[in-house]
Amino acid sequence: MKKNILLTGGAGFIGSNLLRMMVNKYPNYKFVNLDKLTYAGNLENLTGLEDKPNYTFVKGDICDSNLLNSLFEKHKINAVMHLAAESHVDRSISNPMSFIETNIVGTVSLLNAAKHAWDGAYEDKIFYHISTDEVYGSLGDTGFFTETTSYDPRSPYSASKASSDHLVRAYYHTYGMPVKLSNCSNNYGPYQFPEKLLPLMINNIKNNKELPVYGDGKYTRDWLWVDDHSKAIDVVFHKGRVGETYNIGGNNEWKNIDLVELLCDTMDKLLGRQVGSSRSLIRFVKDRPGHDRRYAIDATKIKNELGWEPMVQMDKGLSETAQWYLDNEAWMDRILSGAYKEYYSNQYE
Ligand code: NAD
Ligand code: TYD
Repeated sequence: MKKNILLTGGAGFIGSNLLRMMVNKYPNYKFVNLDKLTYAGNLENLTGLEDKPNYTFVKGDICDSNLLNSLFEKHKINAVMHLAAESHVDRSISNPMSFIETNIVGTVSLLNAAKHAWDGAYEDKIFYHISTDEVYGSLGDTGFFTETTSYDPRSPYSASKASSDHLVRAYYHTYGMPVKLSNCSNNYGPYQFPEKLLPLMINNIKNNKELPVYGDGKYTRDWLWVDDHSKAIDVVFHKGRVGETYNIGGNNEWKNIDLVELLCDTMDKLLGRQVGSSRSLIRFVKDRPGHDRRYAIDATKIKNELGWEPMVQMDKGLSETAQWYLDNEAWMDRILSGAYKEYYSNQYE
């Protein structure tokens, strides 16, 4: 069945990696990438895709209902992959309102446009909402998030994503909208904006700048190679059951301080420095307010039902990630020269 897919947020980190895979893998599908190009959206992330006959870029806001209605009609959209979001916890703490607008109002605008365009003819339609494990809140030293774990979001970011998840499910139950959801752990890989832990640390190590580790550094995250996430999205999109949620994780928990130390040693090797020397740049700094202690995903459901498992090991993925940022200095430099400077000094100096 031919799919005409409206993919939102395709100029961001996960969206651009996902599009690169999907546009090449499915030449018969049409991909319309709707992205507002906020500070986090970057068309350079999509270099090479512009000329593909099955790919179109549209600059616009998911809150713009008129635009959404016209895109559904013009491109005969029969599937949505919804990734557009404000995505950084620290920014949500200083400016929650843009998270409410994009993550909540934007998601409802998209649901309404799909409902209007599909008008109850839901066979062969899919509304796939991509979400985060942060909606489940914070774990202690043990336990895992499953698909039935109660929601307990604690930051404006995770609360806004939780709201969007609830609304997507509400449209399934109330209107019969054929939805699918997935909640994924922390991704890493190329094209991630350097406000997030790994690219920020990579850039600072390279430039011999201090490495700001929040609090005691023992906060734990489960890390997943971004292409493994894209493969999971592909599988859920094609084979996942309508109305269901799938947790996606790397089975790969790291305390922040251990991860930053491993990254230091990885970078030292790549940069020809004495291994261990970059660890001296580590500084414990003021903690993030409401900082979730630990996230960990139980991904049994997607493994048993859909046969997906993470493939890339951390040492390989981390080394490839660090090498990518070293090889793509111009990409990083263009980001660092803009409004990022102001963000960095407000956040860290
Ligand atoms: P990102 O911040 O790198 O990219 C977000 C993209 O959305 C950007 O291109 C931005 O321009 C676009 N956007 C923002 N507001 C918009 C609006 N109003 N209209 C249209 N486009 C808009 O985010 P990411 O890390 O690629 O995350 C993508 C999705 O995956 C998000 O929904 C996020 O919650 C989810 N997620 C991310 C992670 C992670 O580790 N990064 C993990 C799990 C889930
Ligand atoms: P982040 O990449 O912002 O992802 P999230 O908060 O969505 O998990 O942060 C990952 C972890 O790293 C989180 O525990 C916060 C911590 N962190 C630091 O210690 N220092 C930093 O400068 C940043 C950006 C994050």
